[in-house]
Amino acid sequence: MKATAIAPANIAFIKYWGKKDPELRLPLNDSISMNLSNCLTTTTVEFSDKYQEDYFELLPYNHRKKLLEHNFAVNNEEKKRVIKHLNRIRKSAKLKCFAKIVSQNNFPASVGIASSASGFAALTVAGCAALNVDISEKELTILARIGSGSACRSIPDGFVEWKFGESSETSFAYSLYPNNYWNLRDLVVLVANQAKKVATSEGMGNVWSSPLMKKRIENVNNRIKKIKKALKDKDLSMLGEMIEEETDEMHEVMQTQKPSLIYRTKETLKIMQDVQSWRKEGLEVYYTIDAGPNVHLICQEKDEEKVIVKIKEFNSGLKFIVNKPARGATLTDQHLF
Ligand code: PMV
Repeated sequence: MKATAIAPANIAFIKYWGKKDPELRLPLNDSISMNLSNCLTTTTVEFSDKYQEDYFELLPYNHRKKLLEHNFAVNNEEKKRVIKHLNRIRKSAKLKCFAKIVSQNNFPASVGIASSASGFAALTVAGCAALNVDISEKELTILARIGSGSACRSIPDGFVEWKFGESSETSFAYSLYPNNYWNLRDLVVLVANQAKKVATSEGMGNVWSSPLMKKRIENVNNRIKKIKKALKDKDLSMLGEMIEEETDEMHEVMQTQKPSLIYRTKETLKIMQDVQSWRKEGLEVYYTIDAGPNVHLICQEKDEEKVIVKIKEFNSGLKFIVNKPARGATLTDQHLF
């Protein structure tokens, strides 16, 4: 009753910002994303009678080895959320047995690289496998979505669409194209690595206090159509135009919510401006930003090195992560304990 899964984070081309049902995490609109090959969460789940209660350990992202086996008092919101999700999996398996869960990211968490997406996707896939819950990929995405909305997009391969759905059963994610369909790059520039101050769940609760939200919901379907066409035609300039428009709109909604949410820093804005000038110089690169200050730079494989040179010229001290489109969550026998 032990299994390990590796799941990628994903970058949203069309964003999920706002929920119709906060409990079930049903979003207000469809969204589209790409899985990231180098922003991964590995999670091992073991159910056993030897455990007297649930254990959870999130290893630091740069931690190499050796696990600590300490019990925790469930006082931390993140940990409570993990146990709550485990309860959903236990319910599907009709099993009452405690578990030990160990999880590790290979990137900093809570800085806008969707660690909750990779985290809840890995937990769902490992938890179900450990308990032999035999469900389809679609059902796995539904279960992962209830843990953390964007996690459903980290289960299918490559380029993924999440249908908003009218009910839990109809709000699922599926692969539009596999990871090897289009050799794009996402260079995540780590502007900051401290935890964000307002969690997405909390921020999304106030979307309708923004006067711009109504317009956003009117705009988004048209943009989805254009992004799908851009993906179909592998048209980076159309994709880029749409992802920047989408990013700007989501952050304008965030900023005009009450209370106002400002995730972008001075440095974020400076990179956005520079991306525009790099394009004028002929380098085809576009920005997109989730709920944090870090900037995702989307370009073609052939321009990766040139974009790296630009990042280093911008600030030689900045760290960045180079991602290719990735497969969704997969099982592995490389257990963490
Ligand atoms: O699923 P959450 O709670 O991590 O929300 C993700 C929200 C955004 O990253 C801002 C957009 C998205 O679609 O990923």
